[in-house]
Amino acid sequence: MTDLSVGPAVSCDAVVTSNEPVSSGLIRLDLELDQSLTFQPGQFAMLNLDGAGSLVFSRPFSIFEGAGRRMSFLYRIVGRGTRAMGNLTAGAIMTFLGPLGRPFPPPETGLPVVLVAGGVGLPPLAAWLARRNDSPEHEIHAFFGARDGADVPWDLLGDRWSVSVDSLRDVPSGRRAWEGLVTDLAAAQGDFRDGRTRMILACGPTPLLKAAARLAEARGWTCWLSLEEHMGCGYGVCKGCVVPVLDPARGPQARRNATCCQEGPVFNAADLAWEHNEHPDLSRADGI
Ligand SMILES: Cc1cc2nc3c(=O)[nH]c(=O)nc-3n(C[C@H](O)[C@H](O)[C@H](O)COP(=O)(O)OP(=O)(O)OC[C@H]3O[C@@H](n4cnc5c(N)ncnc54)[C@H](O)[C@@H]3O)c2cc1C
Ligand code: FES
Repeated sequence: MTDLSVGPAVSCDAVVTSNEPVSSGLIRLDLELDQSLTFQPGQFAMLNLDGAGSLVFSRPFSIFEGAGRRMSFLYRIVGRGTRAMGNLTAGAIMTFLGPLGRPFPPPETGLPVVLVAGGVGLPPLAAWLARRNDSPEHEIHAFFGARDGADVPWDLLGDRWSVSVDSLRDVPSGRRAWEGLVTDLAAAQGDFRDGRTRMILACGPTPLLKAAARLAEARGWTCWLSLEEHMGCGYGVCKGCVVPVLDPARGPQARRNATCCQEGPVFNAADLAWEHNEHPDLSRADGI
């Protein structure tokens, strides 16, 4: 696997400075940490509530933005932990462990890049794109998919992202969105049929990742995927996050379990043993 060495993680308290919706389904959480750190796009942090309300296991969230002691996240409420996070107000204390995991790689020289983000898959790719703002020599196309117009954080996206929605409902006037799967929007780009090799970076639900991998394979592009496995510890101890990967050192058919938190969450799609990594909801990945 490609070596993407990163710096050490810090464990510290963090004060919530803001925790406000940026769309109908996404909330932006801004934290002020006790310590300063640097991160690479694609890395995540394990967050928890402090004190009596703390969860047995911290929850993993990709870092969206950050510098020094400021770190920001985008999250969707899906269960007990995120519901409790949604109730936090400015001044609340959280615990932070990060940055963790392997980031997305930087662009390869001369290789155009295609970013494909779905829902809460936005933060690591938005962070990746933000780092490229100073290097306009890289050709980058960014695609973001949401449920409907209200689910899109329009102000955060600016004008760099092409948007797709499952339903055109609630798309504000003056904003453009395409109805359909975000991977189909990316695949339909006429410019991409010029035969040039590209690099695709994707983060989102598993069907989106599968579709991105298939698009890359069909076109002969390289493909990096950020996987969202359930995580207990975030640093390689509990083995609750393993994903099957190919193990070419042991033979062409050999497989082994990789910890998503340490060897990922970003994997080269070519390293994943997809057929052993079945998820129940792959139907939407068909059609590319
Ligand atoms: C590396 C990484 C980065 C992530 N980044 C983000 C992010 O930027 N924003 C964001 O909103 N979410 C992100 N997630 C997912 C987030 O960790 C889960 O949504 C969160 O842990 C759910 O906690 P909960 O207590 O609210 O839900 P629970 O009560 O634990 O579970 C509620 C539902 O969510 C499902 N769920 C729980 N954890 C995960 C998971 N890791 N992946 C997929 N489904 C899960 C459960 O199966 C269940 O159906 C990331 C996950 C990983 C592994
Ligand atoms: S989350 Fe514990 S080993 Fe990965």
